[in-house]
Amino acid sequence: MAKNTLSFVCQNCGAAYNRWQGKCESCGEWNTLAEEDTSGSVPVSIRSKRKGRTFALESLAGKSPDAPRLSSGMTELDRVTGGGFVRGSVLLVGGDPGIGKSTLLTQATSMMARAGHRIVYISGEEAVAQVRLRAERLGLSDAPVQLAAETSVEDIVSTLSEGAVPRLIVIDSIQTMWTDTVESAPGTVTQVRASAQALIRFAKKTGAAIILVGHVTKDGQIAGPRVVEHMVDAVLSFEGEGSQQFRILRAVKNRFGPTDEIGVFEMTGLGLREVTNPSELFLSERDLGTPGTAVFAGIEGTRPVLVELQALVAPTSLGTPRRAVVGWDPSRLSMVLAVLEAHCGVKLSGHDVYLNVAGGLRIHEPAADLAAAAALVSSLVNAQLPTDAVYFGEISLSGVVRPVAQTPARLKEAAKLGFQRAVLPESARGEAGGDAGLSLNAVNSLTTLVAEIAARGSRRGESGGSAEKNATPARFRRGEG
Ligand code: TYD
Ligand code: MG
Repeated sequence: MAKNTLSFVCQNCGAAYNRWQGKCESCGEWNTLAEEDTSGSVPVSIRSKRKGRTFALESLAGKSPDAPRLSSGMTELDRVTGGGFVRGSVLLVGGDPGIGKSTLLTQATSMMARAGHRIVYISGEEAVAQVRLRAERLGLSDAPVQLAAETSVEDIVSTLSEGAVPRLIVIDSIQTMWTDTVESAPGTVTQVRASAQALIRFAKKTGAAIILVGHVTKDGQIAGPRVVEHMVDAVLSFEGEGSQQFRILRAVKNRFGPTDEIGVFEMTGLGLREVTNPSELFLSERDLGTPGTAVFAGIEGTRPVLVELQALVAPTSLGTPRRAVVGWDPSRLSMVLAVLEAHCGVKLSGHDVYLNVAGGLRIHEPAADLAAAAALVSSLVNAQLPTDAVYFGEISLSGVVRPVAQTPARLKEAAKLGFQRAVLPESARGEAGGDAGLSLNAVNSLTTLVAEIAARGSRRGESGGSAEKNATPARFRRGEG
């Protein structure tokens, strides 16, 4: 085997090629290939001729001590990890630079250290003084967190092997770490992978929990922690719009807990504040009484979350109308638009369509279909929806409104926040029970809903016609293009 193998490694996904090319065939990213020496990715020492050691095999039925968890002292963080950090587990926290990863981890580690655990914070990006400054600003300087600014994985492992095993180690960030076992520069995929491997080995051996911080950039310049995602036990993603105060922590992968839970935080001048009732936050700045907005009663993990969907449907001047969506799946928007066109006679081919989920939340549930459709039609016919109504339901390709899970939880949250009615699938009415505290408007097809909204709108001329005719006011049908 050749000693020095140079190959071109995609900095986004880790795929290796013999020669340079502009596009990575594996992940489709452009300009992400960088030359790397990959000979060391399997350390030479491992390829030595020594005979394999024998190890004991165990039965599946054996008892393992259940994974003891370390609570972070922050309810929102514990919710996402599934109840705290598991001994010997490695967790990756990803997110854009400046989103607040270091702030979140400074706060969490301080709380755990105050609770009497040995917590180590290794910063590869900032000097000790900078980390201290942040802690001071957060009012956490007195917390007994052990701090260091280091980047050599070997040094870190030897240092931490001495004395009591730390309960939790934060590595901020994995891109700045480097190990002697490979030649590549810090930040390259090979280095990131090898460093993560060494740290994971340390965690499994000693039982310390490790949190790796990873920057994710879209242009693929910094080695994305994509390659690390497969190696770690859990991946949390810290998201939010830079301009907004809300931050959402989401579990993307979790071997020890659920993956659909979110934790909601608000970035303040004094660090991150936990938001225990996200619905109130997402609805706090509602545009009451504007056409094109509908409140969706959603579920994030185990928690109901009410959020406003905003739609704008406007005549287009382009040959191909624009479809833009923030916070929701673009292909679901296309589907809802197609169903509106095909089954409800709502002509949208001459209109630009914009859909936005307020507050920076990203919705993954198909249950948002009905709310999205309501917002779209409301904007199109310029008719305000009732401000005291929530919407939820999945729309099938045939235009039928299908039931969704957890109807009672959605209704309860809506009632708690003062909503008076709910527009929901016909078949969910039974599930709702009589004590919902809301007046229920069950719809079994999208056509019914479109007709109801159109009837509220500024409809001119003919009356009593079918929804197919009236959903789109005449002024929108004329003068396009
Ligand atoms: P930081 O945790 O350094 O981000 P990351 O580690 O993800 O790169 O947070 C950076 C931003 O957070 C920075 O723009 C300032 C802001 N911030 C506050 O608004 N309030 C605070 O108390 C702190 C510490 C930071
Ligand atoms: Mg940071």
